[in-house]
Amino acid sequence: MRQQIAAANWKMNLDYKQAKTLLDTILAQQIMLEAHRKVVFAVPFPYLRMARKKTKEMVNYEVSAQNCYQKKSGAFTGEVSVEMIHSSGARYVIIGHSERREYFHESDQVLAEKINLALEHRLTPIFCCGEALSIRESGKQDAYVAEQLANSLFHLTPDAMQKIVIAYEPIWAIGTGKTATAAQAQEMHAGLRSVLARQFGQPVADLIPILYGGSVKGSNAKELFSQPDVDGGLVGGASLIAEDFTAIIHALK
Ligand code: PGA
Repeated sequence: MRQQIAAANWKMNLDYKQAKTLLDTILAQQIMLEAHRKVVFAVPFPYLRMARKKTKEMVNYEVSAQNCYQKKSGAFTGEVSVEMIHSSGARYVIIGHSERREYFHESDQVLAEKINLALEHRLTPIFCCGEALSIRESGKQDAYVAEQLANSLFHLTPDAMQKIVIAYEPIWAIGTGKTATAAQAQEMHAGLRSVLARQFGQPVADLIPILYGGSVKGSNAKELFSQPDVDGGLVGGASLIAEDFTAIIHALK
């Protein structure tokens, strides 16, 4: 079975003490994960090490960075390298979140460079894609999202592609409380999987987890995750509430 993943994207929230308390509260639930399930905490850089220390004893609980720089090392004041992330104990990195694309002008090309570096340093990229409301309203979302994949991922070999996690996050649903319906999510995820199958072959496409993101909550996770091509969620707001996020973990297939 494909990996089913509940990924928490804390974004730029919580001070150090609050972050520790939130992790402690969630981990205290001792939710056991079967081999095909994973929980990933994408925490701010300064908390990577602490989060790894706390999750280390728990099977299939992992830590992620929310971004990385596209160069290996050097004179890039204020940036964080994939090596720093890996050596802090994280095994995932979010690449191409819509907030990075919009506020930091990250291009498809830069994201391709980040993908390459992450894979070289044994980090699993969680590659985000998704359309703005105007694109959805014009009915061009399928082509738009397929192009995001093509521009940042299609240079990979099928072997490398197998190591990627995709997160489909329609921008109009992020932080708005407006979730895509389960049918809308399924339709896009199935479409993305066939785009991947054409480029990398069906067996590879069948292995790639495609997460849904955009106002996932404890109350709607089960319905979203029950769709055949929705392999879990990338969760912002609700991942900051222990009760909500544990419900989301329980909702995994
Ligand atoms: P949200 O954010 O769950 O708060 O909508 C999701 C995300 O941006 O990853």
